[in-house]
Amino acid sequence: MTFPPAELEEYISPPQLHERIKELGKQITQDYQGKELVVIGVLNGCVLFYSDLIRHIDLPIICDFLGLSSYGSETKSSGVVRFTKDLSHAIQDKDVLIVEDIVDTGLTLSFLKDNLKTRQPRSLKICSLLSKPDRRKVEVEVDYIGFTIGDHFVVGYGLDLDGKFRNLPYIGIFL
Ligand code: IMP
Ligand code: MG
Repeated sequence: MTFPPAELEEYISPPQLHERIKELGKQITQDYQGKELVVIGVLNGCVLFYSDLIRHIDLPIICDFLGLSSYGSETKSSGVVRFTKDLSHAIQDKDVLIVEDIVDTGLTLSFLKDNLKTRQPRSLKICSLLSKPDRRKVEVEVDYIGFTIGDHFVVGYGLDLDGKFRNLPYIGIFL
């Protein structure tokens, strides 16, 4: 079996990812000057983006993670979401930044935002590497977006298809 398969094409290259993530880190650093930030990664898709992004945030940060699973097929969000892992720390009165791989229909993030708001953070913002605005079913404000893309299914750099392709160093698209 050849890996990656021939029908997978590079869509966003490693240098493009690196440059944009550096900019996001700089922006976040400026916006949260003088604050301590809790950076929450949404597993599993966030892993590569998260680890690169936090290296460009020059602030005292607390790292935490949560796991979400959407019922339904791998490629379609049903909006019915459950926690597979909860946070390790309380976020009451904290400045919180959620780090996601992609916002598609917005259903997952909308559920997550509502849930975390009940824990009364001082502020709650979202940073997503990718956004597919054409696919939105619910309006959800995304404060920091790496790349806005069209209605394509993408894999790599943390994003999966049936659990695979997360380890690719680029964002790829199936031809
Ligand atoms: P939403 O609830 O529709 O916004 O879906 C969000 C989740 O669906 C993401 O966190 C991903 O796990 C998955 N997803 C949506 N689009 C893609 C894609 O193009 N590639 C890989 N996963 C995706
Ligand atoms: Mg997924």
